[in-house]
Amino acid sequence: TSSVRLAVIPGDGIGGEVTTEALKVLEVAAPEGVRFETTTYDLGAERYLRTGEVLPDSVLEEVRGADAILLGAVGGKPNDPNLPPGILERGLLLRLRFVLDHYVNLRPSKIYPGSSSPLANPGEVDFVVVREGTEGPYTGNGGALRVGTPHEVATEVSVNTAFGVERVLRDAFARAQRRPRRKLTLVHKTNVLVHAGAVWWRLAQEISAEYPEVELDYMHIDAAMIFMTTDPARFDVIVTDNLFGDIITDLAAAITGGIGLAASGNVNPDRTAPSMFEPVHGSAPDIAGQQKADPTAAILSTALLLDHLGHDKAAARIEAAVTEDLAQRVPGAGPTGGRRTSEVGDAIAARLA
Ligand code: NAD
Ligand code: IPM
Ligand code: MN
Repeated sequence: TSSVRLAVIPGDGIGGEVTTEALKVLEVAAPEGVRFETTTYDLGAERYLRTGEVLPDSVLEEVRGADAILLGAVGGKPNDPNLPPGILERGLLLRLRFVLDHYVNLRPSKIYPGSSSPLANPGEVDFVVVREGTEGPYTGNGGALRVGTPHEVATEVSVNTAFGVERVLRDAFARAQRRPRRKLTLVHKTNVLVHAGAVWWRLAQEISAEYPEVELDYMHIDAAMIFMTTDPARFDVIVTDNLFGDIITDLAAAITGGIGLAASGNVNPDRTAPSMFEPVHGSAPDIAGQQKADPTAAILSTALLLDHLGHDKAAARIEAAVTEDLAQRVPGAGPTGGRRTSEVGDAIAARLA
């Protein structure tokens, strides 16, 4: 038997509810002879409000020693005067992504048979967004002058290094090469963000020469949002910067059956640190604690986790069990098909057992 050290960060709101179900499924899906040794970390709004700690260095170092990380969601109650926006998002989630060098934020979107797209005729939708995870406007490079005055000036500077852009483009090209359609769409705003755009465009052209079989396409972000609503089936692999990728993937989730299904992996392809798997959604304070959340996104995130660790058969089994569950959900009965969060986890786990 081999053991996998899994760091679990349930976090806030529905984070705990959905990770419980994800672990339930992971337990039964684990390949013969593989044992998951989980360590749960109490991080998030409650700990911050209680102790002022967001992510102590000692915890970060422990988590760094894990083989993989499973995260629920972070984010406290809205407009809590004791919890300014960004404290947890930047100090916990983004710190993990940056320090562990999760430069590929992998976000697949697919319309499963029976899952309800709000689009009348979406076609066969199955694409993956490769979102850059360590740069762009997310680096915290900015500031404010004359705060609180009518002359206040605030900047958030997008950082795009040749090193950072090249490595994520290379990952996206390699991914497109492995998929049947071999199509890669670079999404940016090169007509306005000319400095950053130039780096993305030039490096994409250069790397494209090494991948003659991959068809490289380019779209401005605004037009890409038109096509994502009118013809999402045209996309295969999308590569884009950190902020565009954040926005695109919530729309991608919405058109493919809802945010409750969207899984993600914050991947360190060089394996110099553990990768982290989490649903795309947040802590959903509006439904937290009510067993209303769909745990499917968290469950599918464990499939990405298994795949990353080389257990592709176990990953495929989880996806198959989810596909079956989705096919028999009661249409119009809400994201879980009218069941409690734990009942969805039970049902999917039962299909695997
Ligand atoms: P959200 O994704 O938490 O919620 C948006 C809407 O989707 C809500 O109506 C919610 O009820 C619904 N929803 C989300 N997940 C669902 C699920 N699994 N099943 C059913 N419905 C679901 O986004 P938000 O409201 O903008 O953010 C809430 C908090 O979460 C904020 O503090 C934000 O910063 C944080 N956040 C964290 C992450 C993360 O940890 N990765 C991601 C996004 C937002
Ligand atoms: C996501 C979230 C995060 C992001 C926030 C909470 C920092 O929206 O994972 O999509 O913007 O990346
Ligand atoms: Mn987001």
